[in-house]
Amino acid sequence: MTRTILGALLATASIAAPINAQTAPQMTRDNGAPIGENRASRTAGESGGVLLEDTTLIEKLARFDRERIPERVVHARGTGAKGVFVASNDLSQFTSAGLFTPGKQTPVFVRFSTVIHPNGSPETLRDPRGFATKFYTDQGNWDLVGNNLAVFFIRDAIQFPDMVHSLKPSPVTNRQDPNRFFDFFSHTPESVHMLTQLYSDLGTPKSYREMDGNGVHAFRLVNAKGDVVFAKFNWKSKQGVKTFTAAEAGAQPFNVHTDDLYANIKAGNHPSWDLYVRILKPQDIAKLDYNPFDATKDWYGMEEIKVGTMTLNEVPENFFAFTEQSAFAPSNLVPGIEASPDRLLQGRLFSYADTHRHRLGANVQTLPVNAPRVSVVNNNQDGPLTATPKDGDVNYFPSRSAPKATETAYRQPAYELDGLAQAKPISKTNNFAQAGWFYNNRLDAKGRANLIANMAGDLGQVKDPKIKTIMVSYFYQADTDYGTKLAKAVGVPMSQVEQAVAEYKAEEAKATQLAAR
Ligand code: HEM
Repeated sequence: MTRTILGALLATASIAAPINAQTAPQMTRDNGAPIGENRASRTAGESGGVLLEDTTLIEKLARFDRERIPERVVHARGTGAKGVFVASNDLSQFTSAGLFTPGKQTPVFVRFSTVIHPNGSPETLRDPRGFATKFYTDQGNWDLVGNNLAVFFIRDAIQFPDMVHSLKPSPVTNRQDPNRFFDFFSHTPESVHMLTQLYSDLGTPKSYREMDGNGVHAFRLVNAKGDVVFAKFNWKSKQGVKTFTAAEAGAQPFNVHTDDLYANIKAGNHPSWDLYVRILKPQDIAKLDYNPFDATKDWYGMEEIKVGTMTLNEVPENFFAFTEQSAFAPSNLVPGIEASPDRLLQGRLFSYADTHRHRLGANVQTLPVNAPRVSVVNNNQDGPLTATPKDGDVNYFPSRSAPKATETAYRQPAYELDGLAQAKPISKTNNFAQAGWFYNNRLDAKGRANLIANMAGDLGQVKDPKIKTIMVSYFYQADTDYGTKLAKAVGVPMSQVEQAVAEYKAEEAKATQLAAR
């Protein structure tokens, strides 16, 4: 039966009606030369081999062979949309960044993503969700490369490759394995805040439209006078925050989030988010019982100032050209917005631009989705796929015949440093308090029950009792109710949890003594 249908299809293909040359555009090779036959290879007679001189065939196969670029090493599965950001509140007292002038419209491109799972994986798997925004401002591109969750697992970039290795499929079994990532996290107590958020239903958003976004890091804002404050940015969905339970997420179609986003935009139901900023003055840093440049911490309780609204109103005309080739980098900053000393952010300043040169090449920022909407004036040049060569023969600086300006107003202000060059963990680690606060203040009874069940589903698979006990002891230190319920759910006796807490506290006291020396 199958053979009959296939045979019929093949027969149909070979007798397809000729295309009307009057109306259809003439096909060409990539060199523009017209193609006379696009369905039969050139062969040596009816029964002979295919000829190497069939350049149409060879070019077609060679181009096909090169259609894929490396997928993002993380955040591979994603979807993008175009839109606009409209500023509503004057931020000039804090930053000289022009995009925050009330009424100012700045075009944006946004890409949402999952983190660990590969391109082509279901969109509803438990994961943080990437929320990356490229603002095409009048002073160059500003990329706010954030997540839906407000904090991160680790506080130092040097741990990122190890953490991602533990979360990615095992190099032996090729499967994600809680034994591996909880082994890593049992050495990383600062991950407890993020793990609590991830295993709540926020780890399975209902749609990309119905989730918030967070810049996570502190940024340094500088105003026209050179005054400095620190700031965190976050997006609040005007559609509200909605989540799936684990069971609901598991029952969704494979492409549900992309389909939802595209369908709503195409129907004119354009999703929008308000952008908020929280400001921390340098003189207030010492008052906090945590380090505000520690990405495992949120700035709970600080005033949020609304600065504008972003609306997504256009589905990109081509997925590969826009979404796949989009390249967001925390190092894409504009005057008035600078990096803070956050050690995770400092590592990201290098990593993204580096991976883009590997994934997309040296000319990544000339691709339409990445190109700034202002002139680029510098002497960077050449490299693979140079489509926009620089004018003139002065490709050096300085020059009398073709001078270029470097306005001193754009110099980054100096800041004071103290201390030793050293590789030493931060003080004021305060690893658990905010996780406990989140558990009690951001989750209702059902949310807490779902968190315990979701966490137990993965932690319960861990074979090494030591890893399981240490993990439970961390959650117990965040909140005793949380830890007690989790201990019961994964079968760890409370006496062992208490013992692990005592061991942790002894280690912590030793580390504090050492750090004080
Ligand atoms: C993507 C590295 C932490 C959010 C990526 C990519 C790399 C990377 C290499 C792939 C980029 C590409 O191929 O275009 C790192 C490192 C981190 C870190 C080294 C820590 C040191 C974070 C944090 C956040 C985050 C804390 C959230 C605040 C994202 C997002 C993307 C991404 C949203 C996807 C961007 C897109 O849609 O193209 N990260 N990451 N990452 N990362 Fe990170």
